[in-house]
Amino acid sequence: MIIAVDGPSGSGKSSTARGVATRLGLQYLDTGAMYRAVTWSVLEHGIDPADTETAAARARDLQLAISTDPQHQTVGADGTDITEAIRDPRISESVSKVAATNLAVRAELIRRQQAIIAAAQQTGGIVVEGRDIATVVAPEAELKVVLTADQEARMARRKAELAEGAVSAEQLRDQIVRRDADDSTVAQFLVASDGAVTVDSTHLSLEEVIDVICRLAKEAEAAP
Ligand code: DC
Repeated sequence: MIIAVDGPSGSGKSSTARGVATRLGLQYLDTGAMYRAVTWSVLEHGIDPADTETAAARARDLQLAISTDPQHQTVGADGTDITEAIRDPRISESVSKVAATNLAVRAELIRRQQAIIAAAQQTGGIVVEGRDIATVVAPEAELKVVLTADQEARMARRKAELAEGAVSAEQLRDQIVRRDADDSTVAQFLVASDGAVTVDSTHLSLEEVIDVICRLAKEAEAAP
């Protein structure tokens, strides 16, 4: 079984997708972490993120190791553990430049994502989170969820993730609005795909969102 969870930053995608995978005994793939890993490597090699050809060559050459265990996430790039490094604000600021507009980078990562998904299907299945999973990466997914939350709820979640007082409310709002605008240039980003179910998490707890998606997964599994 493949479960696609697409949504904007701050919608609670990662915690939700990991929770669903853990509960259903499935693997988990964070495709955003793959774009972050390429961005890390691009910056590490002193490549200008706007230099699309060199960045794409880096993506193709990169030895990327991403775990699919929902309870133990690790990301490695060319032998270096970058699990923490890819969450650095430096990466968050540049990742859209590498991910959204560079179609060659996307093609390379989509190829790798599809290989990971195919392997996971041999062992029960996978929950895949991102922006273009249901539309591009795995349109064959049995369950396609678009997770949304209003801007205030997304801001509150981001703030809770950051150190106390690290950024002001205005900075946070700017970041979210800018990331949405940057990410919206992604090919087929969050375009409603056939049969996708929108789950609005604004007024739901994490456990409630996980409950809803697990119930939808059972229904999808039982469907002829
Ligand atoms: O979900 P996230 O914030 O870790 O994603 C990091 C970046 O990667 C974000 O700019 C959107 C982009 N992304 C993408 O273009 N396609 C995906 N399937 C996943 C993430």
